[in-house]
Parts: sequence; structure tokens; C-alpha cells
Amino acid sequence: MSEAPRKILVTSALPYVNGLPHMGHMVEYIQTDIWVRFQKLRGHTCLYVCAADAHGTPIMLKARELGITPEELTATNSKEFVSAFEDFGVDMDNFHTTHSPENEALTVEMFEALREAGDIYTKTIEQAYDEQEGMFLPDRFVRGTCPFCKTPDQYGDACENCSKTYTPADLIDPVSVVSGTTPVLRESEHYFFRLGNYEERLRKWMGASRLDRNAVAKLEEWFEAGLQDWDISRDAPYFGFRIPGTEDKYFYVWLDAPVGYPASFRNLCDRRDDLDFDEYWRPGSDTEVYHFFGMDIMYFLMLFWPAVLEGSGFRTPRSVFAHGFLTVNGLMMSTSRGTVIKARTYLDNLDPS
Ligand code: MSP
Ligand code: ZN
Repeated sequence: MSEAPRKILVTSALPYVNGLPHMGHMVEYIQTDIWVRFQKLRGHTCLYVCAADAHGTPIMLKARELGITPEELTATNSKEFVSAFEDFGVDMDNFHTTHSPENEALTVEMFEALREAGDIYTKTIEQAYDEQEGMFLPDRFVRGTCPFCKTPDQYGDACENCSKTYTPADLIDPVSVVSGTTPVLRESEHYFFRLGNYEERLRKWMGASRLDRNAVAKLEEWFEAGLQDWDISRDAPYFGFRIPGTEDKYFYVWLDAPVGYPASFRNLCDRRDDLDFDEYWRPGSDTEVYHFFGMDIMYFLMLFWPAVLEGSGFRTPRSVFAHGFLTVNGLMMSTSRGTVIKARTYLDNLDPS
């Protein structure tokens, strides 16, 4: 018996475009593409959108190192993603970018709605600061000796040897990865999102969204530990969107990255008369939204993102699918580990079809 035709919108995670597409990425985009093709074969309308994740410190610094602008860097690398998708037969309806007017407008709209609802507040915090470069340092840009097991050359957020977590200030002999100098602690005002207000609504979403067992177990674990409010701002210099009403504060890349899903869809709607943005992204119709992504980013896409959508009056995803990793020597294939097989290398040597 055939079902009534459904209207479905599907996304894959937005790749960081500070590097090139590798086979780990392709695991995700190919699996999403298979699911989309399956829905189309069943007679449903199924759209697949994605975008380049263009913002954040790593992209800003990588562009600086190459002597080009972040816009140039992300444009060049985005082309590599688009051509890899084409050559692997991954059929997206749109591949946009988070550094777009659509994304800025939607991010600001959501932020203002959350602020209006009383879910945003400011607080002064201390953070590692590189005096030579004149910039605050993300945890991953401070390295030093683990305060617990004393392994040298560890990141500022967690030790790869003993897996303990800490802050850059706890490291022994901390060094800024950018300049090689010793960072100092400096105060700055940050914007926070009251994720703690959302447990009940997130539980409701979890119950309604038919998540798989592992995803439910992860969420239960986080609820158990207690939901922490989320720091959604970063100080200049930063490649991203400036927070309205401030001179030098930017939205943290992870706030505007998932907004790239509706933003890419809005960009598609502007070129297609048959599509209506609100029908897919505002509550009140039977339309369905699904997200595919890897297990490393579950916290962002199963807690922060549904909470932001819920709190700002947008539609939450009907369900999400978190997958595992393509590994090299037991560890996730990744650009930062330098363990990748590029998508292009595969295509140059093997036929993907
Ligand atoms: N930019 C973020 C996602 C933002 S979504 C609003 C990001 N980018 S990424 O380039 O690091 O990863 C993109 C997707 O590819 C993620 O879902 C990630 O889990 C997936 N993978 C990256 N390496 C992978 C493997 N080695 N194996 C399987 N999937 C992998 O995270
Ligand atoms: Zn350690």
C-alpha cells in the first residue's frame, strides 16, 4: 500500500572549508544521498541542501597564513566540495555558504527572538589572550603539558593521553599556537544562551522524534549531567557575523552554522517558485525536516540546535541520524590529524559508480 506523498527536507552537516573533502566526509554525503534517493523512489518530494561552514578562527588563521581573505579561501575550497559531490553522484539541490546574507538575516532573527524570550544574558569571563597577536585564543589554540598525567604538547581543552578535560589556564607551560608566546588571562563580556531552560522541551522533542537507541542514551546522559548554558559570542578579530548592537563581538561559529540549513533552503526558494520557506521551517504543516551528521557533533545538533529552533519559533527536525566514523588506525579520519584520503585521490584512482 502506498503512502500519501510527503514533503521532506534533508541536510548533511556543513563541511568546514579550511580543508579539502576527504573520504570521511563522503561517508556522510553518500549515505544522505542514498536516503534522499530512496524517499524520491517512494514518490515523496525530497530536497537535499547543504552549505560550506565558512566561519570561525581556524578559517581566519588559515587564510591569514596563505595571505588571502577568508572569503577567497572558502570560495576555492567550496568548489572542491561541489566537484567531489558531482563526481561521486551526490545529488544536492543546493550547496550554499554560511557567509551569506540569508544566513546573517536568519541568525539575527533567531538571536533577537531568543533575547526577547529572556534566554540570552551577558556575563564577564576570563579567557586565554595572545598579547602579541592581540586576540583571544580558542582552547584548541593553546597547547601545553597536561596538568594530570604530565604529557607534553596537549590541547587546551582535553588531554589526548589521559582524556581528562580542563581549561587552558590549567595547562603547565601554556603556549599560544598562533605566536608561540605565553598567553595571559584577560576578561571579556560574553553572550550566553540559557540552554538550562530547555530540558523539558528537549525531552518532548526527543520523545516525538523516534531517535535511535544510541542517540537517546546520549541525550539521557546529558540531561543527567545537567544542561550548561552556552557561550555564543567571540571577540574580534573573528570571521563571522557581528552581534547587533556591539562593536567587537561576533556570533560563535556554532551558532550560525546550523542556521546554514534554513539559509541554504531560503536561497533555493529564491530561485524556485514552487517552494515556500515557511512551509518547511515554521510550525503548522506536515512537512518534515531531517538532519544527518557524525557522532562528534551530536551535542550541537541534538541539544543546542533544536533548543534554538524551538525558542525562536522555528520548526524542529522530525528526526536526526548520527553516524559513526571512517577510521584510520582506529581513529576518525580527519584533516586536523592529517590522516585523510582525499576524495579527489579516490576519484583519480577508482570509479565511484
Ligand atoms: N562544520 C561542522 C558541521 C556544522 S553542521 C551545522 C563540521 N564540519 S566537518 O567538516 O568537520 O565535518 C562535516 C561532517 O562530516 C560531520 O558530520 C562529521 O561528523 C563528518 N565526518 C568528518 N570526518 C568523518 C569521518 N572520518 N567519518 C565519518 N564522518 C566524518 O563538523
Ligand atoms: Zn593527561
